Amino acid sequence: MANKNLNNAQAANQDEFYTQYRDIEREVLSYVEYNPNVFRGKTILLPCDDPEWSNFTRFFARRFEEFGIKKLISTSYAPDSKMLKEGYQPSLFESDAPQFDPNKTQTHGKIFVLERDVTNDGIINDDDLEWNYLEGDGDFRSDEVTKLRDEADFIITNPPFSLFREFFNWIIASQKKFLCICNKNILSAKDVFPYVMKNKVWGGSTRASQDLLFDVPKELADYYVKHEKEGSKYRFVDGKVMGRSASIWLTNIEHGIRHQPLDLMTMADNIKFCTHKDLKGLKEYMHYINYDAIEVPSYKSIPSDFDGSMGVPISFLGYYCPEQFEIIGSSLELADMEIIKSKLGKLNGGPRFYIEEEKGIKRMYERIIIRKKL
Ligand SMILES: C[S@@+](CC[C@H](N)C(=O)[O-])C[C@H]1O[C@@H](n2cnc3c(N)ncnc32)[C@H](O)[C@@H]1O
Repeated sequence: MANKNLNNAQAANQDEFYTQYRDIEREVLSYVEYNPNVFRGKTILLPCDDPEWSNFTRFFARRFEEFGIKKLISTSYAPDSKMLKEGYQPSLFESDAPQFDPNKTQTHGKIFVLERDVTNDGIINDDDLEWNYLEGDGDFRSDEVTKLRDEADFIITNPPFSLFREFFNWIIASQKKFLCICNKNILSAKDVFPYVMKNKVWGGSTRASQDLLFDVPKELADYYVKHEKEGSKYRFVDGKVMGRSASIWLTNIEHGIRHQPLDLMTMADNIKFCTHKDLKGLKEYMHYINYDAIEVPSYKSIPSDFDGSMGVPISFLGYYCPEQFEIIGSSLELADMEIIKSKLGKLNGGPRFYIEEEKGIKRMYERIIIRKKL
């Protein structure tokens, strides 16, 4: 693959990876299990998608009648606006269609709509998808796609990670129901975290410990493998599927899993039996020196019998049961950095909690402060 394409890939922040059918199925079915009528009579928009490549449209089109969906709309992003523009070939699906336009194929996004039995075979499914070119390139931020967002009841997709915060704000502005995939770390970002904290958005039903693996286009495999070798966050799995284990579903659609409390041990049992390296050998949990809370190194080692404030890793948000805990805030806003400055004489980076070990003062990763509710 040409170096230029690899550089383009880099510039696009590796946005070109596709969600596996089984991951979509497992996640979406849990909402239907919780409420069988969740999508009945509703319009669903799948932006940043492309049924020729991706599985979201395929999945919802196949379940169109079963879910009682009123209308399914999906939009794709123009090849010229993506990094894959060099060597782009329209598929036979596109070039054989009467509406194929060689002047638009690279520069325009596409819209796919499913709402009627086009093939007259008595069933509405993916064979009945009708498509055309959009006026523009399918950018979710365009007026054209924003209008489709406003028409929809649900917005569902795996969006470009490089634009996630913009995407999140775009969804929040619509006040619609949504389900999307994001990087776990974005949950503590200042424009996303307040919604998580106020319980307005939450992790999906696929637990955060379960890796989401994504397909990448063959032409980009070199790029992802290269990054794997450099020890980046991608995980090379079986020659064609790449993992981004830091990914999580984010939603404001109700599901049952999030109301299941974590099964936890007492503080004494954690100290005695917990195998986490940061707890092993300690006589008690460490206490931050710049905030009144104990440090809990993993969601698994949250003590069941502690009533005070506890600092937990961001990954906790994937297990957050609002009936079990309340979220007080994050280290970003709560850490008292004046104390640290007076101890160290300087600051190393932004606000974080610190603990004092024998070896000296240790800066923690970002933490969420929680308190027991039950
Ligand atoms: C992470 S991929 C996921 C694709 C598909 N939704 C799936 O889950 O399989 C994100 C897609 O968004 C497209 N994209 C990038 N920037 C975009 C934008 N500004 N507007 C719409 N789509 C965009 C990328 O080209 C890419 O195909």
